[in-house]
Amino acid sequence: MPLHWSADRCQFQDFEFTIRQLQAGTGLIVSAVPNPPCTASNAHLSADLDALAVYCTTLAPKPSPLRLDAASVARGQAIFMRSDVGCASCHIPPRFTDSTLSASPFIKHDVGTGNRSKRQDQYIVALMEHPTLDKAASALGVSDVTLWRCLKKPEFAEAFRKARREAFSQSIARLQHASNAAVGTLLRVMTDREAPAASRVRAADVVLQTALRGMEIEDIDARLRELEAAAEANKDGRRR
Ligand code: HEC
Repeated sequence: MPLHWSADRCQFQDFEFTIRQLQAGTGLIVSAVPNPPCTASNAHLSADLDALAVYCTTLAPKPSPLRLDAASVARGQAIFMRSDVGCASCHIPPRFTDSTLSASPFIKHDVGTGNRSKRQDQYIVALMEHPTLDKAASALGVSDVTLWRCLKKPEFAEAFRKARREAFSQSIARLQHASNAAVGTLLRVMTDREAPAASRVRAADVVLQTALRGMEIEDIDARLRELEAAAEANKDGRRR
């Protein structure tokens, strides 16, 4: 039986891992190695753990302390069941879940309750690795609508932009690094007397054009700086 909101435990004995990891304990299984949750069974590995599991199954849910009147409960139920509201499309009566014990893989929905930052990282990696949204979504096992909605969230969009900028500036840095070698190649071909004349002329042309363009950009940059400085001085002057 899957347990936990995110169905990451398959039997109460799997909480051995909660004791060991989240609660930083030593666990109750002493003379065996516990199986990772939802792989092989962890029952019968520790009498204490089995007893704890039995105890947990006896815990019955208590009715809501909000003692609402029957009429408003019925009204709420009607809203819950409405197809345009959609709750019952996942929370299907009578068990109010679309999960079944036999379905494999177990049905999960990302409703935003998991580890947000970890999930966000996974989404971003998938978006960077796959050319399209559909492909990223299917790699993540979520619907493309879910992923699309995520991209609409400002904080997610910003994190995604940042990741892309970083990846891009890494590529630019590699190009800049490689430009040294490129210049070396051009100069070598240009000055190589054995190389065909056409290649040497072509290399010389690229060298000239690139140098010219570089000079123009430097020139524009310097003039822009002067203009900015002048504008700044002007602003200061007016403020005084
Ligand atoms: C896309 C499927 C889906 C839809 C639609 C949906 N839910 Fe859920 N709901 C879930 C899942 C999955 C969980 C378990 C949370 C988790 O896995 O972290 C959940 C959990 C809950 C819980 C917490 C239950 C608990 O045991 O604590 C409530 C309450 C709830 N939903 C109410 C609603 C209501 C009300 C609606 C309609 C407005 C709705 N849900 C629509 C999938 C859905």
